[in-house]
Amino acid sequence: MPTPTLPDGDVVTLPRARSHSPLARAWWRDAVIYQVYVRSFRDTDGDGVGDLAGVREQLHHVRQLGADGVWLNPFYVSPQHDHGYDIADHCAVDPVYGDLAEFDRLVTDCRLLGLKLVLDVVPNHCSSEHPWFRKALANGPGSPERARFHFADGRGEAGELPPNNWRAMFGGPAWSRVTEADGRPGQWYLHLFTPEQPDFNWRNPDVAAHFEEVLRFWLDRGVDGFRIDVAAGLFKHPELPDSADPDVDERTRDSVNPLAWNQPEVHGIWRRWRAICEEYTARDGHQRLLVGEASVPTPAEQALYVRPDELHQAFFFHLLHAPWDLAHFHRVIDDAVRDIAATGSTVTWVLNNHDQVRTVSRFAGEDPASGPARAAAAALLMLALPGAAYIYQGEELGLPEVLDLPDGLITDPIFRRTGSRTGIRDGCRIPLPWSGTEAPYGFSPHGSPTAPWLPQPASFAAHTAERQRSDAGSVYHLYRTALQLRRELPQLGEGTLRWLETPPGVLAFVRGEGLVCAVNFGDTPAPAPVAGPPLLSSGPCGEGVLPPATAAWWIGPTAAERI
Ligand code: NOJ
Repeated sequence: MPTPTLPDGDVVTLPRARSHSPLARAWWRDAVIYQVYVRSFRDTDGDGVGDLAGVREQLHHVRQLGADGVWLNPFYVSPQHDHGYDIADHCAVDPVYGDLAEFDRLVTDCRLLGLKLVLDVVPNHCSSEHPWFRKALANGPGSPERARFHFADGRGEAGELPPNNWRAMFGGPAWSRVTEADGRPGQWYLHLFTPEQPDFNWRNPDVAAHFEEVLRFWLDRGVDGFRIDVAAGLFKHPELPDSADPDVDERTRDSVNPLAWNQPEVHGIWRRWRAICEEYTARDGHQRLLVGEASVPTPAEQALYVRPDELHQAFFFHLLHAPWDLAHFHRVIDDAVRDIAATGSTVTWVLNNHDQVRTVSRFAGEDPASGPARAAAAALLMLALPGAAYIYQGEELGLPEVLDLPDGLITDPIFRRTGSRTGIRDGCRIPLPWSGTEAPYGFSPHGSPTAPWLPQPASFAAHTAERQRSDAGSVYHLYRTALQLRRELPQLGEGTLRWLETPPGVLAFVRGEGLVCAVNFGDTPAPAPVAGPPLLSSGPCGEGVLPPATAAWWIGPTAAERI
């Protein structure tokens, strides 16, 4: 077993490494998965857009960081109205990202590097360019093709009003009217996101059968699991009645229209998908993962999605939405550990993703200078919690949100649909800075004719992977050391959490036998809960004191236990 050297030069002797035997507990239970937003990861052909070859080229970065696997955002054939969440062919690679042969090479590379490969599957809706939707438009009202979607006649004398009052998540009504083959205005179809993303009708058996084929297609190519988009969606109330609070979805961009989301029938689909995964496991003993984006209001409701015969995991988004506030963190961690652990699953923690303002900016509040330290402290906290964790590309480089993109460069359909910058997601999707001192910072090959699809700010020069690799005090090395310790220390990953009594402003807990994690949410230094230097800290931290906006890990008895 290697003996790691920590950034400050201290060497720590570690207990035995985790068993990798097939009889050991399932890999996903405390895995750390690195999320790759393919479009913004690495561009190898100079068109300004990331590609699968770029994922392959930088896989070593993920490996060296110490993650267990990668989740790829959608790279399937798509007109890109929602950057790949509008899919026209679920079983083909969009030419902008590569082709199936390149995908197969990526599977091989992941195997060679010991990384799991998780794909995005988007079952709630497709693209308006999907052949099924085109046929539905062509074949007219009452056709079996229309029955695969939610087509309905409008209200009003001439059907000029939508069938109900639901609003779309990305703004505007959740219905659009089509022009029929005779050139007249005709039926309406439902889309919970944009008009270019028609919702499937999951009460139609063709839809379930189609997605079973999609899952098998990718499982047969060797993937280790799926992240399921909109996993609390799919089924709608069978009568599609008016909502008592129609603006609820649009206002919160969270899944709370109880008629459009979280219908009981969806659990039957997850049981079926779990059975498919088990079928593959029965063949080779290797567990496949289903992790759901199941945005439901409470952890208790989320727990229903991860019952033993349903999804393995569901993202726990309450940290993703948490402000920098001790009481808030304490409450959501408590709720998650209690409700999710009771199902036999493990909590899937996430602080950043391709839909949210990056933590460096989100936690900054009034004072932008406080963001980097708070984001680093939150990361060390998250990586000490029991369960699995997802890291969003660039988080390990301490990237801030880019907030000053000119209106004309914004591509997020939310901006187009609402006319407002609230909730737009381009700022967390800026292409990654790999190297060099000026754009494209190694994202595209040197001298590429086309600029990156979103402009990178000059401030990215300080965040390149190249620069951070050679700086032992960088955010990159903090993540890397934390992940190394997670692999080696039996207290981390799955297991127990016990809260400690702390001074005001400090959150602290013990993992297993004696690993203590403490975070100072306050503005003044606080006494450290453990004597001696920390094993790892998110910022400068001496003995006995925990500076503000700092998290640290120690091994040893707490002050209370020493007395
Ligand atoms: C959730 C995805 O994370 C987001 O990026 C996408 O726009 C919506 N689902 C619609 O598919």
